[in-house]
Amino acid sequence: MIILRDHPLYNLNTFGIKAIANYFTELTSAEEMKELLHHESYKTMPKLILGGGSNLLLIQENINGLVLKNSIHGISKVKEDRDYVYVRAGAGESWHGLVSYCLQHNYAGVENLSLIPGNVGAAPMQNIGAYGVELKDVFSELEALNINDLKMEIFNSAQCRFGYRESVFKHELKDRYIITSVTLRLNKVPRFNTSYGAITQELESMGVQEVSIAAISAAVCNIRRSKLPDPAKIGNAGSFFKNPEVKTEKYNALKSVFPSIVGYPLENGNTKLAAGWLIEQCGWKGKIIGNAGVHKLQALVLINNGNASGKEIYELSRQILDSVLEKFGVTLEREVNIY
Ligand code: EPU
Repeated sequence: MIILRDHPLYNLNTFGIKAIANYFTELTSAEEMKELLHHESYKTMPKLILGGGSNLLLIQENINGLVLKNSIHGISKVKEDRDYVYVRAGAGESWHGLVSYCLQHNYAGVENLSLIPGNVGAAPMQNIGAYGVELKDVFSELEALNINDLKMEIFNSAQCRFGYRESVFKHELKDRYIITSVTLRLNKVPRFNTSYGAITQELESMGVQEVSIAAISAAVCNIRRSKLPDPAKIGNAGSFFKNPEVKTEKYNALKSVFPSIVGYPLENGNTKLAAGWLIEQCGWKGKIIGNAGVHKLQALVLINNGNASGKEIYELSRQILDSVLEKFGVTLEREVNIY
């Protein structure tokens, strides 16, 4: 195992922020991680566990402590029963690589989650979701290394306490585990989810006669490519804020003043507002301030317009939060992890 000093993280976060890690290492197995953490100094040092770096804003120029890139690879079918196939993937596999594997083998359930940037290990952290499907819908279990006692533990879905872009690993168990693998439970017979309007429209314009998981994946890829900037070209971390949940009375009051407001009813009786709409109405869409900006096609996505520092992007997000609060009385919450 190699530990590097003062390692640049520019290529390791999709915002393309030029931060420097005091200590850096890239590890490819749980055994290597245990070996590293046997050293008391690395065990106690502040740690940033890095996957694809696609949901992260680095606001410190020098990251004090150890940045550990989780590069555990491997994808395999571990078992199957009458209805399901169980596929385990190493935390360091790319998420879309895993989706492609499932499509190739005709395992259904993750086609709506095509092209989400990032690695497998980060998927349960924030219960990734898109186009009507969330990770929790296909999740079987994960394996994680307990940083304290260096034992491997298995977490089922209930133990992960998944919520909207949430899990126990962002809260009570933050910084206490390193996720090493994730096992998905995939359907042998697909159950298509085309409820998200844009998918139906895209399938129609693609001229698809018979829906399939490959067609849904292609439709999702087309929609994402048309709206979301490619991090290889424009630094970004997908949606920067969550879509806020408000009481339906609040939504109705807002709707009487702003009739075009976009909201979706939730099962708990509240309403989820489209944060992209709120931000656009405050005049932010396409706006560039210094090196940071708001994407011209999707106001929920903040971008690095060249050489932005993490602080500049954070400051822009603060201004957006303030203006949405002032205009609508709604407090946005950042979805991206700030470090
Ligand atoms: N809208 C605007 N202006 C904008 C952007 C959106 O008015 O600039 C309105 C539109 O009316 C649109 C609605 O907001 O119909 C919803 O927009 P979109 O379908 O683009 O989805 P989103 O709510 O902005 C969420 C997820 C995305 C996910 C898409 C599709 C969150 C925080 N974001 O975005 O996830 O891909 O739905 O399911 O829940 C991510 O988490 O990084 C991410 C990209």
